[in-house]
Amino acid sequence: MTTTQYKNILAEVENGILKVTVNRPDKLNALNHLTIQEIGMAVEGGAKDSAVVGIIITGMGDKAFVAGADISEFASFSPEEGKKLSADGQKVFRSIELCPKPVIAAVNGFALGGGCELAMSCHMRIASDNAKFGQPEVKLGLIPGYGGTQRMVQLIGKGKAMELLMTSDMIDAATAHQLGLVNDVTTRELLIEKCKTIINKIAAVSPVAVAGIVKCVDAYYEPGVDGFNFEAEEFGRCFAKDDVKEGVSAFLEKRKANFKR
Ligand code: COA
Repeated sequence: MTTTQYKNILAEVENGILKVTVNRPDKLNALNHLTIQEIGMAVEGGAKDSAVVGIIITGMGDKAFVAGADISEFASFSPEEGKKLSADGQKVFRSIELCPKPVIAAVNGFALGGGCELAMSCHMRIASDNAKFGQPEVKLGLIPGYGGTQRMVQLIGKGKAMELLMTSDMIDAATAHQLGLVNDVTTRELLIEKCKTIINKIAAVSPVAVAGIVKCVDAYYEPGVDGFNFEAEEFGRCFAKDDVKEGVSAFLEKRKANFKR
């Protein structure tokens, strides 16, 4: 296992999987500025590290994934400071969304406010059965600032997103699953294993193709981008890469493909 030192997160690579653990359990892993920046650095490092196949983001302990942005940090912010906080966080969350390798949120407890937004910026979400989701910002006189108003609509549709965003209702893992907010629900004990199983499946397929999937699915949500055209361009670009030669040869030779990382 290789470990990179940070103050508020743990970042460990084991068997090709980078596990990023938000590590402020006494504050229910609330995201202060440094924590968000450290998550961004760890994900960027994982994206560049050829030994890393995929990334899991989780929270320390059994109570919280992340209970939101650190409320104590923005108590007396000006509008300009608020806008900057939002823009800085959005930038990091966008880099997670565009990571060319799979990023899975292992939601191990409260995923509130910025925590729910962090989970939504990941490519997939697996929840433990004690997980709780919600966007309670309206109770603070705020709106979500790390992409929550956009990604929640994308994931569960406008009507339910409006309801959760306006009421600040907290929902359990089963309801989140039913709404499509999470991909699957498991026990706390099996949570990380479940995420590893998904990443290990992806480890067997072409990394070039996986990176292409991330870009094309994202194009669906980009205003002004013709997703079908974008897909055709990306499909064409695959033929310039070795992976298609290896994948197609392996199929024709009835052997397992061996993609280079
Ligand atoms: N920002 C800063 N600190 C937070 C926090 C947040 N978003 N969420 C929890 N904490 C801190 C608490 O202040 C407390 O710290 P203290 O022990 O120094 O007082 C500690 O984490 C434990 O939280 P506590 O509220 O005592 O736990 P609880 O089990 O009674 O309640 C929650 C759990 C999640 C319901 C509650 O902490 C909560 O509502 N948190 C805020 C959620 C939120 O509004 N998030 C959106 C922020 S924009």
